[in-house]
Amino acid sequence: MKIISIVLTAMLFSICSMAQPEQKIIVKVNQPTAAIQPTMWGVFFEDINLAADGGIYAELVKNRSFEFFKPLMGWKILKPDTTTGVLIINQSETNPANPRYARISIAESEQSFGISNEGFRGMGIKTGMTYHFSVLARQSAGSALKVRIELVSSAGKIIGSGNLSPEVKDWKKYEVNFTANATDPKAKLNIWFEGKGALDMDMISLFPDDTWKNRPGGLRADLVQLLADLKPGFLRFPGGCIVEGRDLENRYQWKKTIGNVEDRHLIVNRWNTEFKHRQTPDYFQTFGLGFFEYFQLAEDIDAEPLPILSCGMACQFNTAEVVPMDQLDPYIQDALDLVEFANGTADSKWGKVRVQMGHPAPFNLKMIGIGNEQWGTQYIERYTVFAKAIKAKYPEIKIVSGTGPSPEGKDFDYASKELKKLNAEIVDEHYYANPEWFLKNASRYDNYDRNSYKIFAGEYAAQSINTCNPENQNNWKCALAEAAFMTGLERNAEVVNLCSYAPLMAHVEGWQWKPDLIWFDNLKSFGTDNYYVQKMFSNNKGTQVLSMLKENKPLTGQDGLFASGTFDQNSGEIILKLVNAGDKAQTANVVLDGAKKLAPKGKITVLKSDDLERVNSIEQPTLVSPVEQEFIVKGKTIHQELAPYSFTVIRIKQVK
Ligand code: AHR
Repeated sequence: MKIISIVLTAMLFSICSMAQPEQKIIVKVNQPTAAIQPTMWGVFFEDINLAADGGIYAELVKNRSFEFFKPLMGWKILKPDTTTGVLIINQSETNPANPRYARISIAESEQSFGISNEGFRGMGIKTGMTYHFSVLARQSAGSALKVRIELVSSAGKIIGSGNLSPEVKDWKKYEVNFTANATDPKAKLNIWFEGKGALDMDMISLFPDDTWKNRPGGLRADLVQLLADLKPGFLRFPGGCIVEGRDLENRYQWKKTIGNVEDRHLIVNRWNTEFKHRQTPDYFQTFGLGFFEYFQLAEDIDAEPLPILSCGMACQFNTAEVVPMDQLDPYIQDALDLVEFANGTADSKWGKVRVQMGHPAPFNLKMIGIGNEQWGTQYIERYTVFAKAIKAKYPEIKIVSGTGPSPEGKDFDYASKELKKLNAEIVDEHYYANPEWFLKNASRYDNYDRNSYKIFAGEYAAQSINTCNPENQNNWKCALAEAAFMTGLERNAEVVNLCSYAPLMAHVEGWQWKPDLIWFDNLKSFGTDNYYVQKMFSNNKGTQVLSMLKENKPLTGQDGLFASGTFDQNSGEIILKLVNAGDKAQTANVVLDGAKKLAPKGKITVLKSDDLERVNSIEQPTLVSPVEQEFIVKGKTIHQELAPYSFTVIRIKQVK
């Protein structure tokens, strides 16, 4: 693949040197038009498609604390007998956050009894890897049940095992580590009990050793690496509609997602039964990935944290419940306390919690989002009160508001008008539309008001069929259209300050919504065509926008060509992005007007496919992926052949 494309590119360069340019593209190298915010390209994380539980949160046991609606969902009883059994006990009066546990009873000592956990569509187990099993347990009086833990392959072979002998009558955490001797994406965990008596068990957990930064109970390293490779400017979390909840009761409440994992109050995931075509009744939020971990993740990947909070409105596509205005205070208090949790000192109430969780330094929160995808007068009313309270206490915190699910229409126009009147700072716009919309809207921000709020292009993805269609594909046609649109976002970085594709992640067997940027199964993961588009923009951001015009106009689709230019003050490089959305090759003749002396070699990265339907997959993860190489810079005019359906990034260094 690579060799072929290097040969091809070399051929193209030689053709280019003979081509006679007609209309030139002029880049004004020494006249930057606007600064590009470091936050320009970021990521939007939502626990949809098993992105958190069953995904990036590396826990392998599903329903580890028996809190799903059906307490034994995900579990099977092995060798049931009238003298053995599992009893689910609910102690909600004394432990409302984690009320249930399982009592395992064996009346006769010879009985063999066990329970088995299926994992999230199986458990991904790797040979040679150490696994950490843990459980909260207590023996009943006179009981001495022993526990044997077995990892069992899909073929029924034991591929790892360990033993525990819980001794005491009080709850205690017991741990055992063992190494797996085979790889299997679909293993399961069997837990056998021997002896006579009764043993209480809760928080039955299994983690691989190779989590991100080897943190116990941490995140899947391959998935975090894919995020880190994007070099995102921000991490928006935790959604998405799960912020709002299907009803207010099930909204995301950050305070219930911090502290000891066993004290985090599980709730149903809003995507659980959202779509008839993709029912996922076993989808819950354990909050093992909670707000502390989100802040930590943002820090790890060098992204600004951008938490989005409920504004007292449940998902308007579902119950659309709203909290009365005179009962909004607890919601606002949550926002104020969150700033304290992230930034407060050890002697503040919530700063102290962060310190106790192991992060003495502040997380340096600078932005907060109020409401996810709300619309109507109810939103504006609530946003107004939130904004006033946050600004009164934390004037330095930037507030993100939103215009609802559609980037045009009555609700959008209303929200936009009202938010302008309220001097909103950053406004989130969402675009789920067909590829043609994205091509057409490459000029969307060329005439946006420069003196009003900044844009957060917070959720975008070209839909190959239509929104929420289960047949949507992450194909090259969509990715290319997004690249074209993104040249418009970049050209208008003066107004557009943050951008993120959505949704971010999906399990190949556990998804609800397509398309998604990153796909994974229990062992592997890959970036889609769209991922590589995002990566090429984000990794080639630059610090200033350069004017890049053909016949005095921005390139917004003339002859199928879209383009934007930036300059990176840190590296001294001119960065050009060119999208040829047409089916014919064409030459871009780019004049670097005002350029100083240029380095002899530049770098060119091309992402292309002659087949617009082409998609990456678990089996072929890099079918559409960038190919990078050096080229000889022959002067201040670049003649670059652009392949049909291609996205090209050129970097040329100015030497002083
Ligand atoms: O990205 C999927 C969903 O799309 C988000 O949860 C929501 O904000 C939007 O409707």
